[in-house]
Amino acid sequence: MTLDLFDVSGKTALVTGGTSGIGAMIAHGLLERGARVVIAGRKPDALEEARAAGLTALQANLSTPEGCRELAEQVAAEVDGLDILVNNAGATWGAPLDEFPDAAWDRVLKLNVQAPFTLTQALLPQLSRAATAENPSRVINIGSIDGIRVPRTASYSYSSSKAAIHQLTRHLARDLGPRNVTVNAIAPGPFESKMMAPILAELRDEVEAASPLGRIGRPDDVVGAVVYLSSRAGSYLTGAVIPVDGGIATTL
Ligand SMILES: NC(=O)c1ccc[n+]([C@@H]2O[C@H](COP(=O)([O-])OP(=O)(O)OC[C@H]3O[C@@H](n4cnc5c(N)ncnc54)[C@H](OP(=O)(O)O)[C@@H]3O)[C@@H](O)[C@H]2O)c1
Repeated sequence: MTLDLFDVSGKTALVTGGTSGIGAMIAHGLLERGARVVIAGRKPDALEEARAAGLTALQANLSTPEGCRELAEQVAAEVDGLDILVNNAGATWGAPLDEFPDAAWDRVLKLNVQAPFTLTQALLPQLSRAATAENPSRVINIGSIDGIRVPRTASYSYSSSKAAIHQLTRHLARDLGPRNVTVNAIAPGPFESKMMAPILAELRDEVEAASPLGRIGRPDDVVGAVVYLSSRAGSYLTGAVIPVDGGIATTL
């Protein structure tokens, strides 16, 4: 029998923000490939829908460290070890420079940077349980090309938060490697989602034209990167930030 380099079947994954957009694409992509997938989000209706589709859905508000630790406790009660943690839940805030409010820093940095840190910290016992040097556990942070290049939108705390999560990825990769946990980030370009809907409604042609490939991302594009990072194929990669953006940032 040949070992499938990209096999993720039998692995257990937690995807935060798995009720919508990129998180839902990742959660369903892993589920379809035989993983056991737990997701977390706030909205009860969306969680119910996810359960009907075969996902284990936990309610959590990741805006506070306490909320992150509560989710970690729920996860520990639900699963016996975690192979993959996808820190995907995120939020943005747009406002003109002169009016950009204090609250936009607090909310966005807490969810986009502090929550991935606290959740990784709180879930380390779960992530370490089955991890070996040969087959490490995987943390995958969802960053953004807005943390690589300067976006055109007035989303100051968002772009800063995404640059921060890329750096946190490298920092944690150094410290968690010896504990058999890899930490990588995916920096998506534009994908259909609630967050992207207003931009795509107004500027879809422009957004597509910015990519040498002339289109926005499809579910397979981000699932492919997650499957690579989660499987045997990605076990020697840590501290990397992988743009999945149709070349928007890399060819700028
Ligand atoms: N779409 C893109 O083009 C794009 C590009 C680059 C990067 N990204 C990144 O991809 C990630 C997903 O974004 P998306 O575009 O897919 O957005 P989305 O459709 O708005 O999804 C956001 C997800 O996060 C969850 N969430 C939001 N606040 C939360 C909180 N306080 N506690 C727990 N869960 C929370 C939401 O569920 P509830 O509302 O039910 O809580 C939802 O499942 C984000 O990190 C974003 O920055 C997206």
